[in-house]
Amino acid sequence: MPVNRTLRGLYLSVDTAWLELIEGALRREFDEVHLTQVASLEGFVANAQDGEFDVLIADYALNGGTGVDAWNQLDHGDNGVPFLILFTSDIGEAESIDVMRSGVNECIYAEDFPRLGYVVLKLLEVWEARQAKIQADAALIVSRNQLLRLTQQLHARIEEERTAVSREIHDDIGGALAAVKFDLSWISRRSADPTVKERVLQATATLQQALDASQRIMLSLRPAILDEGLVPALQWLVNSFQKRTEAEVVFRCDKDALSLGPEIQSVAFSVVREALTNVVKHAQASKVVVDVSDQEGVLTVEVSDDGVGLAPKALAKTTSFGILGLRERAQSIGGWLDVSSSGRGVSVILTVPLDGVVLPDVTELSE
Ligand SMILES: Nc1ncnc2c1ncn2[C@@H]1O[C@H](COP(=O)(O)OP(=O)(O)OP(=O)(O)O)[C@@H](O)[C@H]1O
Ligand SMILES: [Mg+2]
Repeated sequence: MPVNRTLRGLYLSVDTAWLELIEGALRREFDEVHLTQVASLEGFVANAQDGEFDVLIADYALNGGTGVDAWNQLDHGDNGVPFLILFTSDIGEAESIDVMRSGVNECIYAEDFPRLGYVVLKLLEVWEARQAKIQADAALIVSRNQLLRLTQQLHARIEEERTAVSREIHDDIGGALAAVKFDLSWISRRSADPTVKERVLQATATLQQALDASQRIMLSLRPAILDEGLVPALQWLVNSFQKRTEAEVVFRCDKDALSLGPEIQSVAFSVVREALTNVVKHAQASKVVVDVSDQEGVLTVEVSDDGVGLAPKALAKTTSFGILGLRERAQSIGGWLDVSSSGRGVSVILTVPLDGVVLPDVTELSE
């Protein structure tokens, strides 16, 4: 029963006797068949490249050449449509090796011609499935790139917002609190009343707490220390984590300063901050090591702990965004993030090739 579709084929043959037979074989599977016959290799190649045909068919035996020559002259890129070679007479071993090696999609012998329609139908199904996959892959790459750009913009916005809020706390709240502190000290100096002095002392202590809190909030919003470079900023981060955890936190970097762009510094800082937060939240570790190096033009930032390790599927949780966000950010600066857990502990490694270094593609996640 022919399928409800039209088949447009290009047929290279010096012999007109076969055209009808081939059309008949194809009509067994397709309800409409348009077969264009050409006799010369040049005509075949020129027509084939127009892209108007669903299938290309060539006789093996041609004048001064073979069907394999026709195959070899075509561009078999992603859109290359199915190509068949027909053997209209017995061929020798050398010829069949020639065909096998060429990579043509299919070859069919004269006695099998009745099956030609079926063979073409199957080839087309495979070809269409391949095209669908190619399109899906391309769409995936587009949406992946959009996601990367979105992540970049999102983080740029977050950084801007953080900086703005931090500045407002500094200028407005910090300024007002400092003015109140000044006024309190003025009142204290002017008043001889011990009750007032006592009250002012209490108020000053409370005010100091508010000043300290606003300082802390400013630092967590945007550590100004990052302006001094990644190494001092990470040292500061490690020290402040040390105060929040029982675990020993060690910072290793063989240089006092690294020459890195602001975006890379910001990503590296975020990686360490998130990895350390994860250690506090999930690891129950007794030791954490933060290791930074820029050997051979590659920045490597590693945070490893000796805690409980990753639970199965820990990184596939739909409610967890920490590691996911870091992966996106790493990619946005041309780097990648590895999260691994072999036995005890977890190791999070950010790798960023610095200028001019070409490294292998993004490493797959290992768990
Ligand atoms: N150092 C670690 N030790 C043990 N498990 C960890 C460690 N770091 C991450 N995990 C596991 O990996 C999961 C994913 O981490 P991720 O940072 O992506 O999300 P989260 O910390 O759960 O949430 P958030 O979105 O707030 O970061 C965690 O829920 C935890 O189970
Ligand atoms: Mg997290």
